Amino acid sequence: MKFFLDTANLNEIRDVASWGILDGVTTNPSLVAKETMPFPDLIKAIAEIVAGPISVECISEKAPEIIREGRELAKAAPNIAVKIPITIEGLKAIKVLSGEGIMVNTTLIFSSTQALLAAKAGAKFVSPFIGRLDDISQDGMGLIEEIVSIFENDPYPTEVIVASVRHPRHIVDAALIGADICTVPYAVMEKLVRHPLTDLGIERFLKDWGKVKK
Ligand code: G3P
Repeated sequence: MKFFLDTANLNEIRDVASWGILDGVTTNPSLVAKETMPFPDLIKAIAEIVAGPISVECISEKAPEIIREGRELAKAAPNIAVKIPITIEGLKAIKVLSGEGIMVNTTLIFSSTQALLAAKAGAKFVSPFIGRLDDISQDGMGLIEEIVSIFENDPYPTEVIVASVRHPRHIVDAALIGADICTVPYAVMEKLVRHPLTDLGIERFLKDWGKVKK
């Protein structure tokens, strides 16, 4: 499974990139709004740090405008994936932009039919938001299971990005199901590494090492 970082914060991206496990980055308008750097500079800076796909969201709502915006965004760097919300207008734009070789990440996916249609339109990625489904007591991970099975039955090259991740168990379950990618917020990413028994073990080994005759 690939790991993307769900943030637009350069410090977080630089940090996780230095761990050697980062495959890409996803941003959205809410994440970008937390940063101070002008949007075009920010996107270019992110795309320089990470070689993998960098998702950047279109905010237009009509297909011709989404297409225009998507083309502009994609010019920023070769690794930009244009993020398009799943709507009928979005589908039209996905078809055109994907046909031009632009990577499209279809976002705000909350049902298997949305994922299936995005894949048929040629999207490189679909992003089901599992945390937001869990928030309204629906089964977010069940949706991932369904989409992964559908893409196995009807083999599309589209990759499933598990998005709106809230805690480490989401990552474990996504990996067990065989999702292609998890996009993870920085705070959750840190939790994936830490374990109190590891900390205790290091502490004990260092203490005992102090007693070793050298
Ligand atoms: O990748 C999608 C993500 O940014 C949405 O997460 O926590 O706002 O539901 P959240």
